[in-house]
Amino acid sequence: MLRTSVLRLLGRTGASRLSLLEDFGPRYYSSGSLSAGDDACDVRAYFTTPIFYVNAAPHIGHLYSALLADALCRHRRLRGPSTAATRFSTGTDEHGLKIQQAAATAGLAPTELCDRVSEQFQQLFQEAGISWTKEENYIFRLSQFRKPLQRWLRGNPQAITPEPFHHVVLQWLDEELPDLSVSRRSSHLHWGIPVPGDDSQTIYVWLDALVNYLTVIGYPNAEFKSWWPATSHIIGKDILKFHAIYWPAFLLGAGMSPPQRICVHSHWTVCGQKMSKSLGNVVDPRTCLNRYTVDGFRYFLLRQGVPNWDCDYYDEKVVKLLNSELADALGGLLNRCTAKRINPSETYPAFCTTCFPSEPGLVGPSVRAQAEDYALVSAVATLPKQVADHYDNFRIYKALEAVSSCVRQTNGFVQRHAPWKLNWESPVDAPWLGTVLHVALECLRVFGTLLQPVTPSLADKLLSRLGVSASERSLGELYFLPRFYGHPCPFEGRRLGPETGLLFPRLDQSRTWLVKAHRT
Ligand code: ME8
Ligand code: MG
Repeated sequence: MLRTSVLRLLGRTGASRLSLLEDFGPRYYSSGSLSAGDDACDVRAYFTTPIFYVNAAPHIGHLYSALLADALCRHRRLRGPSTAATRFSTGTDEHGLKIQQAAATAGLAPTELCDRVSEQFQQLFQEAGISWTKEENYIFRLSQFRKPLQRWLRGNPQAITPEPFHHVVLQWLDEELPDLSVSRRSSHLHWGIPVPGDDSQTIYVWLDALVNYLTVIGYPNAEFKSWWPATSHIIGKDILKFHAIYWPAFLLGAGMSPPQRICVHSHWTVCGQKMSKSLGNVVDPRTCLNRYTVDGFRYFLLRQGVPNWDCDYYDEKVVKLLNSELADALGGLLNRCTAKRINPSETYPAFCTTCFPSEPGLVGPSVRAQAEDYALVSAVATLPKQVADHYDNFRIYKALEAVSSCVRQTNGFVQRHAPWKLNWESPVDAPWLGTVLHVALECLRVFGTLLQPVTPSLADKLLSRLGVSASERSLGELYFLPRFYGHPCPFEGRRLGPETGLLFPRLDQSRTWLVKAHRT
């Protein structure tokens, strides 16, 4: 088989394997295109998840893969209106379903079918005195791609992220690469896609699975060129070799560029153990979304998931994190600054430049701001850039950590100045009281804007409460604390949104325990 023809032929068939996960719902993630871009990313960007096997129910690991890709994509879209566009693709790998159907026809469980058939082969081969079985297959000359792959990775140190995975792949490439058989005898493997022009062979599952990334963007039609190679594949570490060695080699063989970036994440374990059906410890993501809310669980996975190493899941951890960061810190902050008793006019109060001059260290009777307050302003002012850098480097957990740390700092600011002790009726207190609330609301506006990719509904609730309109929620529109920098503030005097409910209701730790006890 001609190497260069492999992908073109498979490009057509690959599409049939893929069905977009529409029933996963736009509540969790979206697909399609939208304008995005600023100076830093004025090119198209295409994010992919693996296509997931459908032979078992999805678990939190699959959800995590998809969430990482989704948040990256959403953050990019936040960067505002532009000429560029962002695209997201996900799907299912139905190879497993085919096994399932074959098994159902045979009246067997899929694993039983596989075990039984392979056992029969092994017995037969043993009896026939065959210790290695020979089979004629189409071979991909992977061995010839060792040097080109090394050149690609050495020339693009960011190609595989986080760095330790880049290093691992280069280490793999220190050894000779064996040629790769990319088909199987159809008599042996009949539920795959036949090799075009040779019905006696079936295409190796990984070859046509990988091609989904191209067929989704229109390959082999020329339209795919506007998305390729501006692509970030988000994958789990178990499928690194397929994505970082086989796939780029196939692409190079077809005269195409490797993907721009491969973002690798590690695995979720449960109470210290690998998730597995046989251990019965598979965490059902739908139960979690139900129990912790969609936004709560998205926040947990992306805040606690560190791509570099495995992360452990247990219910108490979720409750603790969400209660402390979303309910108490963020929700409490919003409540403190918008509650009727402290903000009776229910408006965005005015900022007083004499109380909080832009120059730190000034002294005077009306100056109220302290050194820590300047530190807060500078931390929140640089937060969007910091968050964007973390997203660019596939460190969403770090972005969320930075936001959370600023939330804590803002709570400290409010605590320090105790606005509930200040009096709106007093001409001395009032301007400073307004200023404290104004600064805190400005910080909340930044947090709400930056949290949109991770907790879309919660961020919407927060921004709506602050009176921030839909057209004021992109990063390009985010001018933090303009009055401090000598500019007019469009929010001053604006009415707050009418929705006064809790931003994120506290989760009941004891109830989680009950559910757990009930389950076991
Ligand atoms: O590999 N924690 O599909 P898949 C985190 N169809 N992520 C996990 C995980 C865990 N415990 N377990 C699995 C396939 N994943 C192929 C992909 S792509 C052309 C073909 C991740 O359903 C895993 O690492 O077995 C991978 O990224 C994804 O779930 C799909 O795994
Ligand atoms: Mg797997």
